[in-house]
Amino acid sequence: MHKIVSLQQDADGVILEWDDGRSIPLPAIWLRDHCQGAASRDPVSGQRLLNITQIPIDIRIAGAELRDGRLLVDFAPDGHHSEFEAEWLSQHCRDLDRQHDDRSERAKQLWRGDSFADGLPRCVYAAFRDGGEHQLEALRAVRDYGFVVLDAVPCEPGEVLRVIQNFGYVRETNYGPLFEVRARIDANNLAYTNLGLGCHLDNPYRDPVPGLQLLHCLASSTDGGESVLQDGFLAASILRDENREHFEILSRQWINFRFRDAETDLRARVPFIEVDDRDDIIKVRFNNRSIDVIQLPPAQLARFYPAYRHWAEILEREALQVEFKLEAGQLMLFDNTRVLHARRAYSAAGTRHLQGAYSDLDGLYSRLNRLESTA
Ligand code: OGA
Ligand code: ZN
Repeated sequence: MHKIVSLQQDADGVILEWDDGRSIPLPAIWLRDHCQGAASRDPVSGQRLLNITQIPIDIRIAGAELRDGRLLVDFAPDGHHSEFEAEWLSQHCRDLDRQHDDRSERAKQLWRGDSFADGLPRCVYAAFRDGGEHQLEALRAVRDYGFVVLDAVPCEPGEVLRVIQNFGYVRETNYGPLFEVRARIDANNLAYTNLGLGCHLDNPYRDPVPGLQLLHCLASSTDGGESVLQDGFLAASILRDENREHFEILSRQWINFRFRDAETDLRARVPFIEVDDRDDIIKVRFNNRSIDVIQLPPAQLARFYPAYRHWAEILEREALQVEFKLEAGQLMLFDNTRVLHARRAYSAAGTRHLQGAYSDLDGLYSRLNRLESTA
């Protein structure tokens, strides 16, 4: 925990000097808004009671002092008094630029095909299920690298749904709670054939897109059918390095994705690359099968196509991809807003059977936050 070494104040706010040399100005309105007192925050849930419109518009500091590391503030014109604990100040006031849930490229470990010389992030399922440090490590791998492979998952139909119960909730879709990935006649999706599938993210035609995907292999006796993973955040950052205009076109111009069959007609207009409030990459999309008619103002089409081709071409670069064969009993769990997956074509002889399911990132991050705070 860091300590405050000195305090300066005027009517507009205070400046806290920290023992690590940081000097952080805090405006009066911010301090009043973050009052931790029982009238401002519910003492049980910690949720806010105070509404911004209840704070006088001309709020200012009447007086401030440090006592035993705590900050005591008197406000004018309403005479409100607030006390901020040393620990709260140390946790929340030293770096106001830090995000509490940074899902952007800034907080990730970007990787390419040769990044896993010591092996892919993996975890034995029995250890994962115990919910302790092994689960923590596996969920951290999903956060940091965007994926983990679970080994020795029982080859039982429906097991993929039980895996999700360890960290979150099943995101049911028109494909059902889970979907069967095996070659079938009259497939409503090319995934359900023995054709190869290029690198893609699932379901860009849904908004919100399922944040997590699981593929559990129940049988794998065909030739071919290898799995490929690729870091979409790295791919998007390469696009930005190679041609910033292409990157900006793909993050600003939204396009149509669509899936339809006899019962379903799902549509979303979303960008290939999404950036956050700091212009950092936060989500990527690509799925050649479900890009719908590209509708943009005609004058923009000519600029859009070279950027789109460039993005698709980066996603075909083998140096960015890891390839492995998912064997029966293995399951891959990956971030469907970041990590692309592909599969090689496979032979008609033999059996290949995967069960897939979706979940949301929120549940996984919530579980991870709880595990980290008790680790
Ligand atoms: C899918 C898919 C990959 C595979 O069903 O979304 O991409 O390995 N399948 O069959
Ligand atoms: Zn897929």
